[in-house]
Amino acid sequence: MILLSKISEIRSLVQEWRQKGESVGLVPTMGYLHEGHLSLMRCAQKECDRIVTSIFVNPMQFGPNEDLDNYPRSLERDRELAEKEGVDALFCPQDGEMYGSNYQTTVRVQKLSQGLCGADRPGHFDGVATVITKLFNIITPDAAIFGEKDFQQLALIRQLTLDLNFDIRIIGHPIVREADGLAMSSRNKYLSIEDRKIATCMYTALQKARVLYREKGEGMPSDEIEKLAKATIEANPQCAVEYTKVVHQLTLQSMEKVTDDSVLTLAMKVSGNVRLIDNGFLAL
Ligand code: PAF
Repeated sequence: MILLSKISEIRSLVQEWRQKGESVGLVPTMGYLHEGHLSLMRCAQKECDRIVTSIFVNPMQFGPNEDLDNYPRSLERDRELAEKEGVDALFCPQDGEMYGSNYQTTVRVQKLSQGLCGADRPGHFDGVATVITKLFNIITPDAAIFGEKDFQQLALIRQLTLDLNFDIRIIGHPIVREADGLAMSSRNKYLSIEDRKIATCMYTALQKARVLYREKGEGMPSDEIEKLAKATIEANPQCAVEYTKVVHQLTLQSMEKVTDDSVLTLAMKVSGNVRLIDNGFLAL
């Protein structure tokens, strides 16, 4: 595996591969790799001849009071893990390589960046859309793989790919969970031992919501599901719900009534500072 930090270097490498007729898969990450990321790499391997994983803690997608400075980083460990998964190139640019001193451009996906995490993290999705557009332009992959845990992010990336005519296949990969149901996330590292146990309440909320939907069926009011999820999470005093929302899988618009196209999206803060998200279809 080759480690590159310059845009010109990764461009030449991809060009070499292309000349040999090889296809390229991209797995964009912010590093501190876990099993969820590794499963994206395995998926990329099935789809493409060559794999690039990018590691870039994108400052543009962090708000002023968010965890940019403390975001977990561990390049040596990431490097070993990516190499074991058969990644061909690890692209790890510095901030200045991606955003020069006169940088001025932002990409915004108008509707899909609003609501849900967009409401709690203003500007976050503009940062994501911008960095993904840049990575797509730099690496020109045939396919890019993203986790479904970041459901809104995935919807927005699908939209920007269509809108900006990128000839890239966007592949969503199912959420990878710990044995007790907690969705894997680099931010789980911030949880204390006690909070780690409690954090499974989001998965419990999702499972209870599925049971209720199975009992009541299509057409049941969404707010019954949303209230059940909120109460399940907030039964733990350490957990504060940011949202529990039933949305349409494609538009991410709220739905008054639940259907088989409904996804329950969840976000909470644990002990005031660790923000976790989860989601899932209600029909299983
Ligand atoms: O999901 C992430 O890790 C990031 O939002 C992404 C897609 C790598 C963009 O910085």
